[in-house]
Amino acid sequence: MTTKRLFLKTALSLIAAASGAPAWAADTSPIKIGLILPMTGQSASTGRQIDAAVKLWMAQNGNKIAGRTVEVILKDDGAVPDATKRIAQEMIVNDKVAVIAGFGITPTALATAPLATQSKTPLVVMAAATSSITEASPYIVRTSFTLPQVTIAIADWAAKNKIRRAVTLVADYGPGFDAEKFFDSQFRLDGGQILDKLRTPLRAPDFAPVLQKVIDTKPDALFVFLPSGQGAAFMKQFAERGLDKSGIRLIATGDVTDDDQLADMGDVALGVVNSHHYSAAHPSATNKKFVEAFQAANKGMRPNFMAVGGFDGMRVIYKALETTKGAGGEALLNAMKGQIFESPRGPVLIDGQTRDIVQDVYIRKVERVPSMGNGLYNVEFDVIKAVKDPGKTK
Ligand code: PHB
Repeated sequence: MTTKRLFLKTALSLIAAASGAPAWAADTSPIKIGLILPMTGQSASTGRQIDAAVKLWMAQNGNKIAGRTVEVILKDDGAVPDATKRIAQEMIVNDKVAVIAGFGITPTALATAPLATQSKTPLVVMAAATSSITEASPYIVRTSFTLPQVTIAIADWAAKNKIRRAVTLVADYGPGFDAEKFFDSQFRLDGGQILDKLRTPLRAPDFAPVLQKVIDTKPDALFVFLPSGQGAAFMKQFAERGLDKSGIRLIATGDVTDDDQLADMGDVALGVVNSHHYSAAHPSATNKKFVEAFQAANKGMRPNFMAVGGFDGMRVIYKALETTKGAGGEALLNAMKGQIFESPRGPVLIDGQTRDIVQDVYIRKVERVPSMGNGLYNVEFDVIKAVKDPGKTK
């Protein structure tokens, strides 16, 4: 071997050793997606829904992008922010994931935001819905919704439908504060009056004391936001205390009349008017196909808005990875911005400026639907098109 060829060979093997692959070969290493969800604890239904949706997306769209295998690494954080952060750190440093997704509740997304910024790893929020989350890091993209986005519609509907005096009841943390604030401002702008603002703890809430206050205050309506998973327990106590027959109207965000629990809530939920971005009964061909496939793959489980956030999150990630051929970092983030597509919920846009989702918000009423097995569903009867998050401060 000549000295020149020997030099070349050594140089190439050094490059190969450094990068783990020959320098001239295409990258065939797996593309890793870190998925952090609450699979246990109070928010486990969110984890179960999103995990099922991610699996459905992969079953329908395969696990190959640019000739590389896509691997989803699922880890349970139990909705505990310190755990989320630790898991995210491991995924970034050890697994070298291209993107981290999931985030069942707001505190887990906020705890992880600084890591996304430091490591330039895109973070796709599929569930958490406090407005400010996308402002916590320029690497955060959201495919769920925000509370301000869905709350204004029900406040407006209430004021225009003979509800003059309302009490608000929200979970005592980020998304609850957003719901309380935006219900209050829109309802008062429309001429309504807020008689009381009640809050219940995020963990292990007891609704009895606040429901007694509502009975004593006698508003025309009670507006409620509680995170997904708490709706059934709330409804049960609402009925047990006779509030369903008290003449006090229940209005809510769709988190309370969640498709995951709605079928088992019983007649107390009938007639509850609420606003949200997704109903399993949304009458589009895309949604029918989604619901059927989801139920077929999950022993009949009905997808809720969390599942759709997960499904659409995978869409955003896949399309972006196709654009970058599996590369992560800022290129991947940029490829997520501006995506427009037809979701099971309706048309959506990932706003290039805010990285938040723009979507239709529906006003719905809980009804029995004979054509859908006589089950309880949120039946859409009005829509506000292309709603941007009204909660952004800039
Ligand atoms: C949140 O923690 O941001 C959250 C969780 C569940 C919801 C809405 C918001 O249904």
